[in-house]
Amino acid sequence: MRALMTRIEQNAKLDRIGDRLQRAVQGTLRGQRVRDLLHGVWLGHPLHPAMVQVPVGAWISAAVLDLLPGQRRAATTLVALGTVSAVPAAVAGLNDWAALARDQRRVGLVHAASNTVGLALYAGSLAARLNGRHGTGRALAYLGLSAASMGAYIGGHLAYKQGAQVSQSISELHRMSDEWQAVADLATLPQRQLVTREVDDVSVILYRHGDDVTVMLERCPHQSGPLGEGEVQEIDGHACVVCPWHGSAFRLNGGEVVHGPSPNDQQILPTRVVDGVLQTKLP
Ligand code: FES
Repeated sequence: MRALMTRIEQNAKLDRIGDRLQRAVQGTLRGQRVRDLLHGVWLGHPLHPAMVQVPVGAWISAAVLDLLPGQRRAATTLVALGTVSAVPAAVAGLNDWAALARDQRRVGLVHAASNTVGLALYAGSLAARLNGRHGTGRALAYLGLSAASMGAYIGGHLAYKQGAQVSQSISELHRMSDEWQAVADLATLPQRQLVTREVDDVSVILYRHGDDVTVMLERCPHQSGPLGEGEVQEIDGHACVVCPWHGSAFRLNGGEVVHGPSPNDQQILPTRVVDGVLQTKLP
């Protein structure tokens, strides 16, 4: 399986379909609010993995009930619940997929294809059950569960091996010591401008507003873009840094993500001023 996943990651032939589908998804899901909603910006975590709990739970429960006598109605209800709830989960997944890196999109395409086959088989199972053909319904459901399980395996590879929609910045903290360290003389910091500094070889951005200074990790949690090269914009009354790569925006007074594609907040570091020197450390 590992060799297969590596071949999928490196298979440039998938890009023809992937690029077309990406344009279609981006053309369809145009509104920033809709995209943010589906990314899970409001939640501070990706929404797609949370939404798939419903169809997966319903389909596995239906598979168990299909083994028991007298449970046809209950199993049909769960197959219907899983099939209906899989649609919005798929839309959220497509929205995330369209903002992934190329190698991640290749794997994500196969993940989506497996789950689409699974969904089609479950839709067929539901239709068969509603027409009284419960044997066919059961068979199609088990095939659908197999396809969805393959999709889940590939989704696991996408998240845990390739780091899709996982914060790319938080591991930077593991390279920092937990001692207070000097980062700048407060008097030399310009007002309302981004300044980049290094702390233990970890790049951070400083943003001064009056005598308050935010120290934030520079690496964008989405795909490691350089936030220090981003713009500061006022969004909903808060100064935010906007990533130059894909436009994720993070509040400078707390690190909360306000616009995706990043579903994750950015890490702010604690600060203190000693003898006019700004210091920071691990949270
Ligand atoms: S790297 Fe994609 S938004 Fe920052």
